[in-house]
Amino acid sequence: MTYAQIVGWGYAVPSRIMTNSDIEQLVDTSDEWIRTRTGISERRIAGPKESTSTLATRAAQNALQVADLSPSKVDLVIVATSTPDFPMPSVASIVQDNIGAARAGAFDVNAACSGFIYALSVASGMIAGGLHENVLVIGADTLSRLVDWTDRSTCILFGDGAGAVLLRRSESPTGLRSCVLGSDGSGVGSLYVPAGGSRTPITAEQVQARQHFIKMKGGEVFRFAVHAIAQATQQAVQSAGMTMDDVDLFIPHQANIRIIQSAAKALKIPPEKVFSNVNRYGNTSTASIPIALCEAIEAGKVSVGSNLALVGFGAGLAWGAAIVQWGVDATPMPFAWWKSMVRNIQSREAVVRSFALRTQRRIDALRRVNGIHGV
Ligand code: ACO
Repeated sequence: MTYAQIVGWGYAVPSRIMTNSDIEQLVDTSDEWIRTRTGISERRIAGPKESTSTLATRAAQNALQVADLSPSKVDLVIVATSTPDFPMPSVASIVQDNIGAARAGAFDVNAACSGFIYALSVASGMIAGGLHENVLVIGADTLSRLVDWTDRSTCILFGDGAGAVLLRRSESPTGLRSCVLGSDGSGVGSLYVPAGGSRTPITAEQVQARQHFIKMKGGEVFRFAVHAIAQATQQAVQSAGMTMDDVDLFIPHQANIRIIQSAAKALKIPPEKVFSNVNRYGNTSTASIPIALCEAIEAGKVSVGSNLALVGFGAGLAWGAAIVQWGVDATPMPFAWWKSMVRNIQSREAVVRSFALRTQRRIDALRRVNGIHGV
């Protein structure tokens, strides 16, 4: 039997911190209101030179470093995102080029904040089915670019970031033990961006009416979230042949501390088994679970044999839960100067490779034009 094991992990967040006091300057709100209603104190906001792909690239490079894997050995790059750099092509293709994963396929998954769980299940299925050996799964979003900074009911919630894991084929029965995915598309209007897609393309009128920004019915999403987290986690635990007592660490999507606490209470999970970093990053959408996983590892909360319950929910409405049995040593490796040198060389190689491919494409195009005109 073949299993998909997490052997590398990494995350990246923008350096710019936006505190609640900063948001007080933009809309009629207060640090106290935001902290008590959401648990958020600050979030990271992408700078002008950053985008979903730059954050995803950094997270992927960090995961490859932990896995000690050359980018050339990556078979597939999957990016879960709802804020791609462009409507097309995929962020995954940009990341594949940036990291120099020369022989990897690449595609995006859009399941909003549940995207990382969806991508994880696709990757695990491909590995278990014998199609691939090393798959990079990245959750990356820059929701700050879709937030209406005049709408106090949404702009306080979101932040930017990316998290990545490297899944590797393994004979050891660890890794993804079960996965539950769900969707209720009747809830599209609870959380969505009305304009900018094929139904309502962007026009000056749509922009003037602020329809290109996130619209959300907060109370509706809140109630859905608590129910979805509890139900999906229970189903995933059951389908892994476990009980809730077997779960060592609960890592839910980081949207709101009150959602997390209500769901943990419904599941009777004690606070010491619940991981949250929503206070420092806000809701980073599909990046929140892998970022939280990385920080839980850094905090020494994950070791060989740990059973992790990862659960996402969000726009769609969609949800997903996965039980992961940890299978590798997660203690941080001592810093090795030569490894960062190898990584620098690999990044430069990727830049040179990308430049060479683009140049070759231009030369081919010129040759073809000249051929047609008989020069
Ligand atoms: N500052 C001050 N007051 C505010 C703010 C604010 N930032 N936002 C809303 N209020 C006011 C409202 O106007 C309302 O005032 P009123 O009673 O005079 O009308 C009052 O506060 C209460 O508003 P509610 O919306 O009932 O506040 P609630 O306690 O529900 O909290 C919140 C709102 C934080 C948005 C909550 O509903 C929530 O977190 N919902 C889930 C959102 C979420 O997680 N979305 C992401 C899902 S993941 C994804 O896919 C992206």
